[in-house]
Amino acid sequence: MRIPTVTDHGELTDEDLAEPLTYPVEAFISPEYVQREKELLWPKVWQMAARLEDIPNEGDFITYNIGDESFIIMRSTEDTLRAFYNVCPHRGRQLVNTPDDVNCVKGRKKNFVCGFHGWTFNRDGENTSILDKDDWKGVLDEKELTCLSQVKVDTWGGWIYINMDPDCEPLSDFLGEAGRILSHFEFEKMRYKWRQWAVYPCNWKTAIEAFMEPYHVAGTHTQLLKYGEFYAYSKPYGYHGVSGFDERDAANKNSQSSSVTRTGRKDQDPRISTYELIRENYETVNYAASTETLVNAAKRLVDELPEGTPGNEVIAHLMKSAKADDAARGVIWPEIPPEVMSEAGLAWSMFPNQTILQGVTFALCYRVRPYGDDPDKCIFESYALERFPEGEEPNAEWVHAEPTAEKWGSVLAQDFDNMEWVQRGMKSRGFRGTLPNPHQEQKITNFHRHLSNIMGTGAPQLIKKK
Ligand code: FES
Ligand SMILES: [Fe+2]
Repeated sequence: MRIPTVTDHGELTDEDLAEPLTYPVEAFISPEYVQREKELLWPKVWQMAARLEDIPNEGDFITYNIGDESFIIMRSTEDTLRAFYNVCPHRGRQLVNTPDDVNCVKGRKKNFVCGFHGWTFNRDGENTSILDKDDWKGVLDEKELTCLSQVKVDTWGGWIYINMDPDCEPLSDFLGEAGRILSHFEFEKMRYKWRQWAVYPCNWKTAIEAFMEPYHVAGTHTQLLKYGEFYAYSKPYGYHGVSGFDERDAANKNSQSSSVTRTGRKDQDPRISTYELIRENYETVNYAASTETLVNAAKRLVDELPEGTPGNEVIAHLMKSAKADDAARGVIWPEIPPEVMSEAGLAWSMFPNQTILQGVTFALCYRVRPYGDDPDKCIFESYALERFPEGEEPNAEWVHAEPTAEKWGSVLAQDFDNMEWVQRGMKSRGFRGTLPNPHQEQKITNFHRHLSNIMGTGAPQLIKKK
């Protein structure tokens, strides 16, 4: 039996996302869909290509590949970024070779000299040298024929975004309310702590969706249940969406309670359970999802607070003392109003393929890209950002890492252990269609709502009630 759906319902509203919905699996498994994504999706959306610390100096460049396209993002002057298609206008050689076994290519250049016939381009993409130009009988005097093709480029939170569509909406409009809320975290002041990537056997959407909802914690990360409760909400913000932890008892709510830095199990001494939850998150998610400062400050809670201190006060004390500890080593926390903190929740999906799990001084992030034309493969990337004292930033580079617990921490390895098998399971004739949780997995249905608008297929449908 297929899932029965309401056939006469128009476009879904935000409110509809709270209703039981289903969406088809074509987007995950169809080779034709991969081709259509190359025509309809990637050339039309803002996508995160790199971070500013990748190209700190004039003349620094980095490549970014998506589908069949490759881009060179160049800091052409101290304050000017440019993004070019990575192709020579003569006969189409990539200017910078981008082999599949590297994540991206970085370097510094005054000029790009094409390796085939030596056409040369300056940092602004203008052609400065063509061998035997007169052979073209003046046609190549037209600068527009010989310069590099540019795409739109903009920045937010230290990330560099590109868009191939010359008529696209401004990045700030695209980010909308999500961008406004998250800008309080000042991600531009964080730096790479580590970054890893792998080619993984599932569709890029299967992979990114494994990190969109905490509903899977109880079934996947069972060891975490002894440290906290994982009931969650999720909510759309335009193209993007947020999830956060929910307190069933309103008395336990505080500005931190929906985020990753919160009290542990309610049936235990919050001075101890808070420490255990934060430490567990930190150590088993590859030293991301918290900081050493927070772990150390949490460890002292039992000495600094009397027995019986309520959870809310434990968290308030923790944040105050961790903030002071960080200030003493030169890491000044951003001032985030409590209402923004609670609205920011736990983790964000930035359409289409970026995920940010944020804290006041850290972020655990993912980006997933398609791998070639294969719907069953993706380039999976994860990285941790943190605020460091000036001069102590590690600025880690990309490391290729097989998807194992040893390389990624035990929690991510558990997530990996779902993704491949979801990809296979969705192909089964016996699969009736998806049944996402209307409260806890709205980020996913919201993602498919917007994706289907762009792709012209795959819209979530309301499930018909008996
Ligand atoms: S293809 Fe670049 S100079 Fe010929
Ligand atoms: Fe997970």
